[in-house]
Amino acid sequence: MREDVAEILFSEKQIQEKVNEIGKQITEEYKDKELVLIGVLKGANVFMSDLMRKIDLPVIIDFMAVSSYGLSTQSSGVVKILKDLDQSIEDKHVLIVEDIIDTGLTLHYLCDNLLSRNPKSLKICTLLDKPERRKVELKVDYKGFNIPDEFIIGYGIDYAEKYRNLPFVASLKREVYEK
Ligand code: IMP
Ligand code: MG
Repeated sequence: MREDVAEILFSEKQIQEKVNEIGKQITEEYKDKELVLIGVLKGANVFMSDLMRKIDLPVIIDFMAVSSYGLSTQSSGVVKILKDLDQSIEDKHVLIVEDIIDTGLTLHYLCDNLLSRNPKSLKICTLLDKPERRKVELKVDYKGFNIPDEFIIGYGIDYAEKYRNLPFVASLKREVYEK
């Protein structure tokens, strides 16, 4: 698995420090509010579980699963809901927790969908962002790191369902996804 890593971009320690920082910021900004965290499966699973423990508020968590990529490395722009929320978000302060934003198509779709359920507020938190790749405008409220246009794996993020359990964020060797 590790022989497919091109370069480690963010170590466990760097990620942990960033997650602490974002957690603190969210704790301050949602003080006295009821917050629902929505993790986007499966990629945001690891980030979500670290982040929620750094938020010192009575949060509720829920998950959605959407598919945009299939097994390839290119976003199709077609988003399908594979698992919907368990609970209503009407009148709730909602924060979407995502692993990585690329074209923005997935979150654009998701935001539209969630806004139609009338939350009190809706914001976006992502660990990683590839701003150069954006195809639709998106306001990112909380962000870990900007990254260049490379294929990323680790810390929950996969290529063809593999590498999610790497504890760091890395780029994948081209020969792995171009073969
Ligand atoms: P978007 O719709 O193009 O913004 O893509 C969003 C989703 O594609 C993310 O939630 C990831 O699951 C996946 N994705 C985007 N870039 C990468 C990457 O570099 N590695 C693995 N998955 C990615
Ligand atoms: Mg994702």
